[in-house]
Amino acid sequence: MNLAVFCSGFGSNFQAIIDVLARKKLDARIALMVCDNPKAFALKRAHRHGIPVVLISPGLFENRQAYEKVIVGILKSQDIGFVVLAGFMRILTPYFVKAYRGRILNIHPSYLPSFKGAHAIRDAFEAKVKTTGVTVHIVTEKLDSGPILLQKKVNVLKNDTLESLEKRIHAVEHTLYPQAIKKLISRKS
Ligand code: GAR
Repeated sequence: MNLAVFCSGFGSNFQAIIDVLARKKLDARIALMVCDNPKAFALKRAHRHGIPVVLISPGLFENRQAYEKVIVGILKSQDIGFVVLAGFMRILTPYFVKAYRGRILNIHPSYLPSFKGAHAIRDAFEAKVKTTGVTVHIVTEKLDSGPILLQKKVNVLKNDTLESLEKRIHAVEHTLYPQAIKKLISRKS
């Protein structure tokens, strides 16, 4: 099964998926990494592991759909079965969602439906909740709202700083995301 992983930044989830695949724990391969940010550290990870990169600036296009049309064309030409959003900080349009309906996964650093949006860890920390978490869900037209595949709670500890909480949430993400990918692939194939 060919995966395309989409990244905008650091790419630690991308790395976690690469590592699980290297241990042959997942019957899939990352055929492409799609990136919207030339400064993303994820590009270095792709290079290190010999993963082909599609780096296209959304700013070159007159609208989001025109940008996505080019990407969908590339994905189809490479026989991509699943799209894995790993810190891809762009909202996909209904056009893209339709092209890969039920086959786009996203990881979100909160226990959805709580704390949707781009700053979920900080928002949960500032709200002083006792528990937050990580969610992997299927992407639909509605932001951070598609069917949930896997979720795990993370307790906010008394002495937590935003940084220490982030660290624990990321560690949970790195095990939960590969599990969720496995679950979706076995369900769909
Ligand atoms: C992850 O924590 C992911 O859950 C979050 O961005 C981070 C990317 O880290 N995604 C969102 O907030 C999406 N709304 P990474 O680049 O190191 O994988």
